[in-house]
Amino acid sequence: MTQLFGLIGHPVGHSLSPAMHNDAFQRLGIDAHYQAFDIDPAQFGTAIQGLKALGIKGFNVTIPYKVDIMEHLDEIDPLAQAIGAVNTVCNVEGRYVGYNTDGEGYVKSLLQVVNEKELSAKNVLIIGAGGAAKAIFYTLASQIEQPNVIYLANRTVQKAEALIGACPIEVKAEAVSLLHAKELLQEVDIVINTTSVGMHPNIDEEPLDLQRVQEGAVVSDIIYNPLETKWLKNAGQAGAVAHNGVGMFIMQGALAFEKWTGRAPDTKAMEEIVLKHLNHKK
Ligand code: ATR
Repeated sequence: MTQLFGLIGHPVGHSLSPAMHNDAFQRLGIDAHYQAFDIDPAQFGTAIQGLKALGIKGFNVTIPYKVDIMEHLDEIDPLAQAIGAVNTVCNVEGRYVGYNTDGEGYVKSLLQVVNEKELSAKNVLIIGAGGAAKAIFYTLASQIEQPNVIYLANRTVQKAEALIGACPIEVKAEAVSLLHAKELLQEVDIVINTTSVGMHPNIDEEPLDLQRVQEGAVVSDIIYNPLETKWLKNAGQAGAVAHNGVGMFIMQGALAFEKWTGRAPDTKAMEEIVLKHLNHKK
């Protein structure tokens, strides 16, 4: 019987996950189907009960349900618990287990442009202190080669302080203002934007003035729509290495796929599918 997988969120209409996962199932000869479910917030609990009753084998969770899903699960992985959000659920013989593959997916994609062994020598600046920042911060903190320091810059500095204070893993970190972050760029090797500033349709906005960015620094944006934000374009022109959000999207999906099926999907093929859809949308 065809196994059911899916995505729950609201809205989910533009998600690239179904195309990416269904292609991966096909390539590996797995009889499964991945379906996006747009769930009305008023029906959330009932919808989850329904998916469980249908025997769904696994699903991804996106905005606005990454926190709400947690009370419906039997077990939550410690990193997901620390992050306080779940983006991947596995049905293990009727027990629903929650994970967060966003942070790990991001770090995997970052390590395609940064040598893992050199991470401990890097000064990192993360912009934003929301859910995505938390997943990335905690996952960087949990690396064997922790960064030398992680600066966390946010419009509301208290939120950055709280995020650092709640991290269960000890790491050298400091909450800073956006103004201070601008100055810090001259000693930072990796800058990561986790806010939605610059995302379609607000493509003329930038999360941080890059005037002081170091040549050769990695400037990374988790946004992939547009593929090259104005900020990344400026980073490239300033001699930095621009890194967009496609890798994070693919890797978080690939990690979920592995948890569900025990098989590693072809991430190059996933990338092709995603880029084809994104370029088509232009
Ligand atoms: P996500 O879960 O996607 O990370 P979130 O939890 O809503 O989303 O967090 C959004 C982050 O982007 C926050 O850090 C937010 O800053 P505040 O904590 O000060 O609200 C930041 N952000 C959003 N819009 C912004 C803007 N126009 N300028 C600066 N920061 C912004």
